[in-house]
Amino acid sequence: MVLPDRNRTGSLKFDGVVERFGYTDKSALPMWLADMDFPPPPVISETLNTYLSQCFGYQMGTVSGAVRNWYSRRGITVEEDTIVTCSSVLAGIAATIQTLTTPGDAIAVFSPTYGPLFSLVKDCDRTLVSVTIDETLTIRDVVASGQLPSHIKMVLLCNPNNPTGQLVHSDDMYELAQFCEHQRIPLVVDEVHSEFIRADCSFFSALSLSAHFRRSVVVAQSPNKAYNLAHLPAASYLVIANPKWYGRISSSLLRRHLCAGDLACVALTAAYDRRNDSWLAEVVTTINDNRQMAFDTLKHTSLMTCCPQSTYFLWLDLRLLFPTTSNVAGALFKATGIASNDGTMFDMPGFVRVNLATSSTMVKTALSRLVNLIHST
Ligand SMILES: Cc1ncc(COP(=O)(O)O)c(C=O)c1O
Repeated sequence: MVLPDRNRTGSLKFDGVVERFGYTDKSALPMWLADMDFPPPPVISETLNTYLSQCFGYQMGTVSGAVRNWYSRRGITVEEDTIVTCSSVLAGIAATIQTLTTPGDAIAVFSPTYGPLFSLVKDCDRTLVSVTIDETLTIRDVVASGQLPSHIKMVLLCNPNNPTGQLVHSDDMYELAQFCEHQRIPLVVDEVHSEFIRADCSFFSALSLSAHFRRSVVVAQSPNKAYNLAHLPAASYLVIANPKWYGRISSSLLRRHLCAGDLACVALTAAYDRRNDSWLAEVVTTINDNRQMAFDTLKHTSLMTCCPQSTYFLWLDLRLLFPTTSNVAGALFKATGIASNDGTMFDMPGFVRVNLATSSTMVKTALSRLVNLIHST
């Protein structure tokens, strides 16, 4: 796949580096933001071009068939009457929080994770209960040891987890679903990074839980990460197997005009076209190769002790490299030109998230600068 030059195209990831990170005497390596450098599959632009030559009155836009087929190719059965579109994943999760809980209710979020999930809970006037997990402390341990307080009214989980790439094992998912079912509270799972799985790992969607437990689950999903359509954006959607919750959440989205527009639905349908499966497979292979190269280079350093199981991110521990700095992403940029996201955004200062969805050349350059930095400190 030939990667386009994204400099001077208005790309936030490339052209926004100076504004966001300032100047460095090194050439900047834009490896922040959840945005991939690969050109999109042609089916999407062809479909959108045709759509844009028609008229734009009210349409009967639907994504249900495309979503059902896309899941079916992944071995998961999704009923069409459980799918509701939303203008973005965060809008869908916000509507779920506002519909199924009341102000002041406690919501558990596993940490570290995608920062806006924490903010969303607070912005909805709910009480954030942050529950820390890592490779040594799994969700199963947390549930088994009673660390999920019994007064919580919802659990919010990002799986695959942005930024760590940690995956929730099926046993952990069952344990968590069992807890939520017992407490009669919703388990809301953000699965937007589900396509980027390391070749020797497997992803267990909450939609693969048995029907009994699926009734406690709301899954938030969109093609915007897998097919890199963030700023279009294509339709996002929720899958809600519990018919009562489905009715309440979908009417809340409809009433507030927060369902996806027709152009977004067309973009989702084009993205989920099976002709794009080979494009996605190539992208995933490139990311897996980049991740392996990074792990092979850094595994004996303090930066990285385990290889992420998923996502297109590296999650690097910079606490030993920059022990006295609170903004380690800023320090890393100054020292190497690598533009990354600071861990503070994910509730874990001292770490950075580095985006690997780019050319192997950029990843190689970043790794050699990191190795030089390690040797010089
Ligand atoms: C885990 C996760 N959820 C949600 C989003 C944002 O999705 P949206 O822009 O559709 O709200 C992102 C964006 O990077 C993400 O990484």
